[in-house]
Amino acid sequence: MSNPFSVSLVSWHDGEPLLKSIREQVFIREQGIPAELEWDEQDQHCRHALVLSAQGAAIGCGRLFENGHIGRIAVLPKWRKQKVGTAIVEALLDYARSHDYPQVDVDAQAYAVPFYHGFEFIEEGTVFQDAGLPHIKMHLKLLPR
Ligand SMILES: CC(C)(COP(=O)(O)OP(=O)(O)OC[C@H]1O[C@@H](n2cnc3c(N)ncnc32)[C@H](O)[C@@H]1OP(=O)(O)O)[C@@H](O)C(=O)NCCC(=O)NCCS
Repeated sequence: MSNPFSVSLVSWHDGEPLLKSIREQVFIREQGIPAELEWDEQDQHCRHALVLSAQGAAIGCGRLFENGHIGRIAVLPKWRKQKVGTAIVEALLDYARSHDYPQVDVDAQAYAVPFYHGFEFIEEGTVFQDAGLPHIKMHLKLLPR
């Protein structure tokens, strides 16, 4: 059986409409995050992971800053628990490792902590509110190649 999805790294310039459609569905409509908090100037400076289904539909995304910060990991509801999120984070970690980033970090939504534990991220500090949702900072040290 062929792989049901594929992940690639894209610039904001190349991926904007598809990346926006996923984040609008997940963060703005599903999680109720205000549009003015969702969109920022950082997107154009990030590397973006974009997941397409075998039919070419955009189903998942995430972004990585030059300073190693990971964010905006999102998978459409009907594609969850099928390792799409794992593929997104692994693609961003591969990029970070291949560019000698010493570590990456994420402001994880509290419910998603077990997801990041799967990659051996470690919590630091205490829970804080961002966009009205509980978050905790987590980091992962990357081994030099
Ligand atoms: C968090 C999210 C990206 C996970 O994507 P996903 O494709 O479902 O994740 P995966 O299938 O790769 O899950 C890998 C593992 O993470 C853990 N995990 C995933 N979702 C979880 C959840 N909601 N609660 C607890 N553990 C979870 C599980 O251990 C899972 O392994 P399993 O499938 O063997 O149980 C997805 O639920 C999502 O888009 N949520 C809405 C947006 C969001 O909150 N993003 C995170 C911002 S920090």
